[in-house]
Amino acid sequence: MKIITALFLTLSITFISKAQTTFQFAIIGDYGKAGTNELNVSNLVKSWNPEFIITLGDNNYELGEQSTIDTNIGKYYSQFIFPYTGSYGTGDTVNRFYPSLGNHDWYTDTASAYLNYFSLPGNERYYDFIKGNIHFFAIDSDPNEPDGVDSNSVQALWLKNSLAASSQKFNLVYFHHPPYSSGQHGNNPYMNWPFKRWGADAVLAGHDHTYERIILNEFLYIVNGLGGKSIYTFNTPVTGSAVRYNNNYGAMLAKTYEDSLVFRFYTVTPTLRDYYKLLPAKKTLLLTSLIEGFYDSDSGLSVMDTIKVLLRKTVSPYEEVDSVIVLMSSSGTGTLEFNKALNSTPYYVVVKHRNSIETWSSSGNSFSANNLSYDFTGAVSKAYGNNLKLKGSKYCIYSGDINQDGYIDGSDVSLVDNDVLISASGYLNTDLSGDNFTDINDLSLVDNNSFTSVIAVKP
Ligand SMILES: [Fe+2]
Repeated sequence: MKIITALFLTLSITFISKAQTTFQFAIIGDYGKAGTNELNVSNLVKSWNPEFIITLGDNNYELGEQSTIDTNIGKYYSQFIFPYTGSYGTGDTVNRFYPSLGNHDWYTDTASAYLNYFSLPGNERYYDFIKGNIHFFAIDSDPNEPDGVDSNSVQALWLKNSLAASSQKFNLVYFHHPPYSSGQHGNNPYMNWPFKRWGADAVLAGHDHTYERIILNEFLYIVNGLGGKSIYTFNTPVTGSAVRYNNNYGAMLAKTYEDSLVFRFYTVTPTLRDYYKLLPAKKTLLLTSLIEGFYDSDSGLSVMDTIKVLLRKTVSPYEEVDSVIVLMSSSGTGTLEFNKALNSTPYYVVVKHRNSIETWSSSGNSFSANNLSYDFTGAVSKAYGNNLKLKGSKYCIYSGDINQDGYIDGSDVSLVDNDVLISASGYLNTDLSGDNFTDINDLSLVDNNSFTSVIAVKP
């Protein structure tokens, strides 16, 4: 009996953890106008049984009034709202409705009907929450926002800092006024914040009562305002506009997987109108490292060669997370792109080179907003165990581990010695200076490092 219970528990836990990486949520915009169109869209959304709903603003037409809010929202979506105090049922037991403010929500009494109706995180006008592998950021794009709406505002600074601190696989930013749109309202340049640079993966907005997918500078912008109010025409397509639709009402279904996030736009019939698969942003490491034998401290230049860089976890057994091979420049710099690393998660940076000692960073380093810089050459303390050799004014990775066993010792000296004897030439691991000849200079280098017993130092 105990075994059966244990098995059942294991199965339940497996099921729950899978449900967290694969789940779906709905996205509606410009929907809050009681009537057949909103009813049809809400039925479409409910047919998906989404875990939760986010909204792209204009939740309560026409004027954001207390007297209309429940018939515009609760009548159709009360079963996602907690706490719910309206007249359409009892609401939910946890909140599964995450709206953002639109211009219509602000028209009466500084959005007080909306702010009273919903119980949301933070200051409720803009806030964030995490579900599964996604960090959501609801922004208030209305110019009445007390904390401002330009890219230097208090609100924008909050977003920038919050994105920098996020460790989720995806960061989704959503609000009402789209930075780019081919619809009647068009672009809202004041909302053109540096979302990508700050670490966001996509921006979702409404305001134009259309559906549009825009890919600009390799960044995804969605306009989704067909939630029930009315339908707008398009003007000339903006740069990057990839898909435009405005023949019927609809909503978006988003489904998240271990390594992707898939967006679908459906109209109410229901008919699939767009599909887009978003992959996690690559993490970019700007690395500086020099190899003792290859670096010429007089010219300040290095012989170019490939190295392998690994990211390892900072807790035992220091599991490898990802690795990339890169050709380093003559100034010792390389740009490496990792697919599996997360932001705000520390990793050891480990450099491996075909005839150098494996060298680890002194501590864990985290990507922030998809970027990290690490320079091994600036101080001896940049390497774990101070395992660097000063050459001129630069700290270099020790040369001489020809057989890559983690020790520079007699066996490495012997390998170089053999090649010196036969005057070997070419791209050989025994050529420590990178001049394509294995000669007395190389022997001297490996001999010195063997004499001082240079080994790979790692945690
Ligand atoms: Fe609007």
